[in-house]
Amino acid sequence: MDCRRRFGLLFWGGLLISLFPYISCLFNPVDNYLIDCGSSGNVSVGNRVFMADNLASNLLSTPEIISANTSSVPASSSNDSSLFETARIFTGTSKFTFPIKKTGRHWIRLYFYPFVFSSFNMSAANFSVSTQNFVLLRDLVIVKDPIVKEFSVDVKSDTLEVIFAPVNGSIAYVNAIEVVSVPDILIVDEATLLEPSGKFQGLTTLAYETVARVNVGGPKVAPDKDPLTRNWVSDGSFLVNKNSATSFSNIPAVKYSPEGAAPEIAPNVVYGTLMEMNSKDDPNSNFNVTWKFKVDPEFQYLVRFHFCDIVSKSLHQLYFNVYVDSWLVVRDLDLSVRLSNALGTPYYMDSVTGLIKNDILLVSIGPANLANVYPNAILNGLEIMKMSNSVGSLSGEDSVISFPGSTSSNKHVGVIIGVVIGAFVAAILVGVLFVLCRRKRKGMHHAPTKSWISISTAGGMSHTMGSKYSNGTITSAASNYGYRIPFATVQEATNNFDESWVIGIGGFGKVYKGVLNDGTKIAAKRGNPRSQQGLAEFQTEIEMLSQFRHRHLVSLIGYCDERNEMILIYEYMEQGTLKSHLYGSDFPSLSWKERLEVCIGAARGLHYLHTGYAKPVIHRDVKSANILLDENLMAKVADFGLSKTGPDLDQTHVSTAVKGSFGYLDPEYFRRQQLTEKSDVYSFGVVLFEVLCARPVIDPTLPREMVNLAEWAMKWQKKGQLDQIIDSTLVGKIRATSLRKFGETAEKCLADYGVDRPSMGDVLWNLEYALQLQEAIIEVDPEDNSTNMIGELSPQINNFSDIETGASATRFDVPGVDDLSGVSMSRVFSQLVKSEGR
Ligand SMILES: *[C@@H]1O[C@H](CO)[C@@H](O)[C@H](O)[C@H]1NC(C)=O
Ligand SMILES: *[C@@H]1O[C@H](CO)[C@@H](O)[C@H](O)[C@H]1NC(C)=O
Ligand SMILES: *[C@@H]1O[C@H](CO)[C@@H](O)[C@H](O)[C@H]1NC(C)=O
Ligand SMILES: *[C@@H]1O[C@H](CO)[C@@H](O)[C@H](O)[C@H]1NC(C)=O
Ligand SMILES: *[C@@H]1O[C@H](CO)[C@@H](O)[C@H](O)[C@H]1NC(C)=O
Ligand SMILES: *[C@@H]1O[C@H](CO)[C@@H](O)[C@H](O)[C@H]1NC(C)=O
Ligand SMILES: *[C@@H]1O[C@H](CO)[C@@H](O)[C@H](O)[C@H]1NC(C)=O
Repeated sequence: MDCRRRFGLLFWGGLLISLFPYISCLFNPVDNYLIDCGSSGNVSVGNRVFMADNLASNLLSTPEIISANTSSVPASSSNDSSLFETARIFTGTSKFTFPIKKTGRHWIRLYFYPFVFSSFNMSAANFSVSTQNFVLLRDLVIVKDPIVKEFSVDVKSDTLEVIFAPVNGSIAYVNAIEVVSVPDILIVDEATLLEPSGKFQGLTTLAYETVARVNVGGPKVAPDKDPLTRNWVSDGSFLVNKNSATSFSNIPAVKYSPEGAAPEIAPNVVYGTLMEMNSKDDPNSNFNVTWKFKVDPEFQYLVRFHFCDIVSKSLHQLYFNVYVDSWLVVRDLDLSVRLSNALGTPYYMDSVTGLIKNDILLVSIGPANLANVYPNAILNGLEIMKMSNSVGSLSGEDSVISFPGSTSSNKHVGVIIGVVIGAFVAAILVGVLFVLCRRKRKGMHHAPTKSWISISTAGGMSHTMGSKYSNGTITSAASNYGYRIPFATVQEATNNFDESWVIGIGGFGKVYKGVLNDGTKIAAKRGNPRSQQGLAEFQTEIEMLSQFRHRHLVSLIGYCDERNEMILIYEYMEQGTLKSHLYGSDFPSLSWKERLEVCIGAARGLHYLHTGYAKPVIHRDVKSANILLDENLMAKVADFGLSKTGPDLDQTHVSTAVKGSFGYLDPEYFRRQQLTEKSDVYSFGVVLFEVLCARPVIDPTLPREMVNLAEWAMKWQKKGQLDQIIDSTLVGKIRATSLRKFGETAEKCLADYGVDRPSMGDVLWNLEYALQLQEAIIEVDPEDNSTNMIGELSPQINNFSDIETGASATRFDVPGVDDLSGVSMSRVFSQLVKSEGR
């Protein structure tokens, strides 16, 4: 493995090397606790040594020290059976506290084998296991047979607690326990979401329980043969129809490449063996190969497919479909395309299911729907991981907060509950903060870099999608607006997609600048033709931008869907992103007045989205990279790929998978996956601080308390010393009253709960007010408490939004017309200031 090259690629992906200094080619876990509970001596398992229990006694707090042993462990083919010979029995809530040297993802592996010891019958033991943040097991009873339960959790604090709580009157026990660091590349943040189809973000913050880890078509792989000490089983017991597939093996053909999966993702014995659809004798074969797994209903699962084409003799021979239950994961998958035309390269794909309704999960592969392709399909490996639910549980609906009572004193429980609540709240805050640090490449997919128009990232899509959308809603929507632009025109405008005209690159594709025949400057965002994700966003963006015309929203000039292309053509924004004017480029620094005007413009754009149409539209990805500036530094909000229509009047939120950009993400949305306009308000609040401080919203190179801008700035704002952290070029140039108003506005936007945040209309008004204070249009009595002023004025603003959407009143209620000009808004606001402000 060429480490240097991998680093380079990751770096190119827009991530800082300093984020993951611990990735090494031979993974060596920083935290590595292996404890053989109840044992009086060290025990070797494969090449690992499990520590004697007494050496770990400082880690354990338990009401009674009970070590149990048995000589009756059933003979097993694995090497770990000696771990099951001893156990720790807990008669009350007990916990291990592991000091964590490096935060991040850790395995927690728990070994259980119930036996009878003295008066304790472990087969009847009924107990729960949890960490500070996640419920791992609830009301678990293991009747016989040794088992190992594997979890992986993201640890944010410098200790990890593993708490064992017997149900009332019962006992808990454990035979061995592992807490081991996991390299961060193992779980990337984003995956294809199967239902509703889209993108799932936030994987790095969840806990997982391994349901199945299968070396398809190959042998069992013992932990000492896996770089991350995982156990892989063979697929025989899961394969539904034994005759549907045959196994194949060619381990030497596996060539890891920086583009594909790393060796830590799965060892070569997984990638070098596979099951292949049994279609050799029949060129008309048309069936799926299906594996069946038992799962717990009411959870979502992360399904990871491992592929490596060691069967094809040449490129572009193998096309197949992949399904989970009845969901199509990918159609006409051509591995050689995903891996820049190489065979034998390991590749993996993550997908997240919807809530599973029954206790069976089916994974299928089947032939592609393409003509002139021999029907075939392969699968090399498969992992199914149960995902922690919205309350942080892998078992049951209750969060750790209502951890079940125990036989120990209630005081003890109280302490745990307290700790757990605190940790839970902290975890959510820290979670948002650290998620970025965990964002890594996923297969060959790179995070957007310095995109000029921020490009939404994309998964994979087939060739047939093109025809699908050209018959779909877009055509009708678009034909109403006449936006469709011939491919030849785009080609000409962009000098045939001249690489030197590229102004941005991202997962979606590239952005080219260009000039139309009539001299109009354009930016053409060209989607990757294989991106299914891209298609959804392409459609959303066209639909949104066709409906919304506003001088503070970037306008769509047209689109092109000829030849399976997905090209969006926007007005060219001469001055790039707001972000690039704040830091990280050589644009001259903006004055305070210019910054306020940009914020006001962007706020107007968002206010229009929220109120200018019958249903509020939630942008969902408000950030400084999505606020573009034209040649006059007028701000326009861009990138509607993630937008969602907001709740109907009788609902208060839209329930949806968490999307957006980290550092800007509303913690309430993150926690409850419920979307309201107030999520945009939160993100906008972060933008306001970014504008004031001119630094990235997440900067992992800074000392810990400074990493997250929102947190850091709020700290100073609460102390009333925001002036201490402002952009150095602004020092002495902002009037105190203007800064105070601005700080208060941002603070309100960042309120923990959406209901406490102002509407975009309020924000807009307050920013206008901050501008007027700066310009000294309004003189403020220093004693005047401007906080009160916001309070007094808010109702007016709220009424104002009612008027906007009301049937009779203004022009605001007519969508699709470029009517809500900044000028008219400004006038209304000025009037408000005159009537109310004085
Ligand atoms: C047991 O451990 C030995 C030595 O590490 C190894 O060679 C052998 O394959 C292991 N057996 C099983 C079944 O894991
Ligand atoms: C047992 O393992 C611990 C930790 O791995 C080590 O420090 C200790 O020396 C070992 N003891 C023996 C007797 O091998
Ligand atoms: C098993 O437990 C019994 C009773 O506590 C003890 O006497 C014995 O030494 C233990 N055996 C081993 C192998 O630890
Ligand atoms: C232990 O508990 C199990 C499950 O409740 C029961 O079936 C078994 O008979 C018990 N064994 C003894 C020795 O009490
Ligand atoms: C374990 O305890 C829970 C809670 O008291 C109870 O609902 C469940 O039935 C118990 N399980 C068994 C197998 O006894
Ligand atoms: C626990 O069990 C005891 C007796 O078995 C009972 O008195 C007590 O109320 C129970 N506590 C809870 C919280 O169920
Ligand atoms: C394969 O399975 C998918 C999902 O259940 C189904 O839609 C498709 O029709 C199946 N294909 C064949 C050839 O049976």
